[in-house]
Amino acid sequence: MLTDLQLRQFRCFDSLRIDFSAGLNFFVGRNGQGKTSILEAACVLLRLQSQRSSTLAPVTKLGARWFAVAGSYDGHALDFRYSTLRRKVQFDHIEQRGTSEYLRVARVVSFANTDIELVRGGSEFRRRFLDFLGIQIEPTYRPSLRAYERALRGRNMLLKSVLARPREIAAYDPPLLQHGTQLSALRVGLVERLAPFAAEAHREISGMNESFTLAFAPGNAADFAAELAASSAQEKRLRQTLVGPHRDDVTLLVDGMPANQFASEGQQRTIALALKIAQARVFATQERIQPLLLIDDIFGELDPERRNRLLRSLPEHSQKLVTVTTMDWLDEPMAGPVFELAGQQLLPR
Ligand SMILES: Nc1ncnc2c1ncn2[C@@H]1O[C@H](COP(=O)(O)OP(=O)(O)OP(=O)(O)O)[C@@H](O)[C@H]1O
Ligand SMILES: [Mg+2]
Repeated sequence: MLTDLQLRQFRCFDSLRIDFSAGLNFFVGRNGQGKTSILEAACVLLRLQSQRSSTLAPVTKLGARWFAVAGSYDGHALDFRYSTLRRKVQFDHIEQRGTSEYLRVARVVSFANTDIELVRGGSEFRRRFLDFLGIQIEPTYRPSLRAYERALRGRNMLLKSVLARPREIAAYDPPLLQHGTQLSALRVGLVERLAPFAAEAHREISGMNESFTLAFAPGNAADFAAELAASSAQEKRLRQTLVGPHRDDVTLLVDGMPANQFASEGQQRTIALALKIAQARVFATQERIQPLLLIDDIFGELDPERRNRLLRSLPEHSQKLVTVTTMDWLDEPMAGPVFELAGQQLLPR
């Protein structure tokens, strides 16, 4: 578990320290008091990435040049400092060159109000969902993803430039194909692992006999090399790489109907929740790791009975950081500390 967390110059906070309990930890406060930022700090500390922003620059407190997060997880001291020029990662007080040992310590699943974008947003939301999980459970995922992105960036830069020769562009094809094929295979595997858990969670939350299925929709044909070669005339016109894993998607179907077109608002929320619970169950059942659950303001849209049902359906043995704007809807008092935020500060307990 995460026992303590310290943040400096992080979002709205100058400096803050929090001591957590196992199980549930509640953060209560009005809008804009820093609840999501505290969950974000836990995510950045444990995973070196934010659950709500694809880059870390906006996390730095306005006017500051750097931020720092530190804390202990399962007895290990973690420390991360970030500035636009430099990142410094310390594991058990020793500065790290790579991040693999550091990232082996803890896993995170994040639930947020914005998860509905998984259903109705563009394919980038579903790729990020897969990547967030893949990086945490497959050691080769992150290197494959980064290598593919590098090849894609280089290739697209040349396609945009008027001076580039076809031979120079073609030099990027072998790495694009190699890392792209690896990445696709990893994503196919992830969708296969998630699918049964997602269907099960969907049945539990909806209480209905609807069948929820997810299917990987690859961004390239089975013969990636041939399709890439065949798209070269169109690439020159549009000046970008048109096929490959950067176009991957996951199709979400309820009773065979595409959820983004047919599902109601409530059904879309249920699907988004089922996808996140599926992530948590992949960790708990297949990896035998209890992830830290960040649960950010997901109760607002649900009626009180569903809120309580959902709270009870979350993996029992996981530590949970939960944000809410009020707590008066709880059926029974929850075991666990309640941290109150006001004036962007933690009130004394
Ligand atoms: N980089 C930053 N520097 C300074 N302040 C920031 C920065 N980023 C966000 N803020 C401010 O931090 C405050 C807390 O934001 P946060 O999203 O954590 O609030 P919250 O308690 O989750 O609110 P809500 O209930 O509306 O979700 C906001 O007022 C926001 O404007
Ligand atoms: Mg928030």
